[in-house]
Amino acid sequence: MPLSDESIAKIKEAVDILDVIGDYVQLKKKGQNWWALSPFNNEKTPSFSVSPNKGIFKDFSSGKGGDAISFVMEMEGLNYIEALKVLAKKYGIEIEEVNSEEDKRQASERESLHIVSSFASDFFKKHLFDSEEGRTVGQTYLKERGVLGKTIEDFDIGMAPSAWDGLSKALKNGQYNIEFAEKAGLLISKEERVYDRFRNRLIFPIHNLSGKVVGFGGRIFTNDKNQPKYLNSPESPIYHKSSILYGMFQGRNAIRNKDECYLVEGYTDVISFHQGGIENVVSSSGTALTVEQIRLIARFTKNITLLYDGDEAGLNAAERGLNLILEEGSNPSVVVFPDAMDPDEFLRKKGFEETQKILDQKKDFIDFLSERLLGGAGDDPVKRANAVREVVKSISKVPDLIKKNFYFKRCAEKFGLDENLLISEHNKIKFSERKYRDVREQKPQSLSSQQSRVEIDPKMLLAPREAELLKIMVLFGNVDVEGHGRLAKYILDNIREVDFSHPSYSKLLQFYKSLDPEKDYPESEDFFRDQELETFKETVIDLTSEKYEVSKNWKAHQIHIPTLKEVLGDKMSTDIFRLKWTKLKTLIKDNQQEIKGLQEKGTDEAYDEIVKLMRQQKDLKKKEKQIAKLLGNVISA
Ligand code: CTP
Ligand code: MN
Repeated sequence: MPLSDESIAKIKEAVDILDVIGDYVQLKKKGQNWWALSPFNNEKTPSFSVSPNKGIFKDFSSGKGGDAISFVMEMEGLNYIEALKVLAKKYGIEIEEVNSEEDKRQASERESLHIVSSFASDFFKKHLFDSEEGRTVGQTYLKERGVLGKTIEDFDIGMAPSAWDGLSKALKNGQYNIEFAEKAGLLISKEERVYDRFRNRLIFPIHNLSGKVVGFGGRIFTNDKNQPKYLNSPESPIYHKSSILYGMFQGRNAIRNKDECYLVEGYTDVISFHQGGIENVVSSSGTALTVEQIRLIARFTKNITLLYDGDEAGLNAAERGLNLILEEGSNPSVVVFPDAMDPDEFLRKKGFEETQKILDQKKDFIDFLSERLLGGAGDDPVKRANAVREVVKSISKVPDLIKKNFYFKRCAEKFGLDENLLISEHNKIKFSERKYRDVREQKPQSLSSQQSRVEIDPKMLLAPREAELLKIMVLFGNVDVEGHGRLAKYILDNIREVDFSHPSYSKLLQFYKSLDPEKDYPESEDFFRDQELETFKETVIDLTSEKYEVSKNWKAHQIHIPTLKEVLGDKMSTDIFRLKWTKLKTLIKDNQQEIKGLQEKGTDEAYDEIVKLMRQQKDLKKKEKQIAKLLGNVISA
């Protein structure tokens, strides 16, 4: 089935050739281009190049070449449309298929709505520049607000005439279809009469991602409290408010390049920021942020920074927004402007540098939430417990487990609590959510719903724990830890029976095990830059540069080396215990599964095996409890 032009444009827009090809072959950077072994035959020399600038690949060994779409066609053996659908899925783009007569009619109707909207936008712009009231009212207003010509151009700002039929006359003269203009929300008909929706207002056209005008916002020129400050186009077949963001068309490249999107409340905030040189900004135009809008941003960046004035309504909106963003798998931060100033006011009053300073002081959601909830009462235990619970509740929305783990770590550091305690709190939240959902869905609360309680798979926790140990071994291998001797040796002695699960970590561990314990261990990570040890280089860089850091913002929270060194002794023992504890949990889980499998078999041999495994299980659980006690957290039986 053919796809609509809009869908195809959306997909092409989203596609990043390196990202697509990187799913299939390992690329290495070489000058402007990227190289790889040919995926189309078994050549051993790199014969395959990708040029991200041109968006094309070339395979010299087979002569094949083209864009990301042709690459997917080739690799998956698909036709053009099928390849587009694969890419749409990859980038989470909902596609429209044009097939039936009804679809065709709707597509043509949308086209007509685009045409009248574009005409109206031009008309408003002309009115601003070429009419008497445009000059005396419109341009004067813009000048007073400091909006410059280039900005007016970039955003197609215009003015609606004060007459009741300015636009409708022009549409009639141009022989435009009045019905479509009504459907686009430009005209209103009442008792046989048709008049303009927007009169005597400054006009902000709203563009979709491909730059077509889909709606308008109109601001009054005065402070008249009897009229709404803004009038907006209603929903229409081309204007779905929940999935449009004002400024997205103008800002999308900056958003991608800066890998960050500022989200503001108003039209004027977007315009002002652009004019001030901060172009990675969009606005939800006074309405509550939606999931579709977050997904739209996610096509350009995962880092969304909410800019709110600091009143209670703004803070509530920020809190709601950041939970939605977390749920969608993006990374929220918050900037609160002082004295309830909106971003436009702040920038105009304080200038670019002050604004940039405040933007750089953005808070990640853990800091934002905890500060908001604790207020001045940092030591009040009840408030603290509440704050922890709220933060964990937000973390529980994060879909990605690795990221979740990172957040638990951050939160544990922030509140000085054990990570495992937070995880158990998290499980409680997940469990009770489940309970309520069951009640809502009128399902009886069965045993199976209890078993399906959400748990972090202990296997997921292994690699981060292994990383922690390797990290201090690489950085402080030769440090004498009070009473324990050299750190690397102590760790190796204490985890002799443990293998690492992560392949690269396991290799690095083997390397340490192969060293002579009487001699010096590698002194700092520089050692691994040595040519011979190339294989470890990447792992070591990863380990020592905080592996679970997801965005730049988190750099601020990196563990500082001196502090780490100060707590080395404690950290070393805790990390060893944690790893062992997690390892035991994975063994217990594996055992459980094995027992379950055997129970289903139900044979005599299976029975004997089950008895054996059960005994082991008891043993493992005992050990787990011992370690848990040492770690200071309580685990229910
Ligand atoms: N808004 C609206 N209708 C209103 C008031 C506000 O749709 N009656 C929306 C607009 O999108 C507006 C946003 O909410 O841009 C924020 O409102 P507000 O802060 O009041 O306006 P500003 O954008 O700051 O406009 P100005 O600076 O001109 O006052
Ligand atoms: Mn404002």
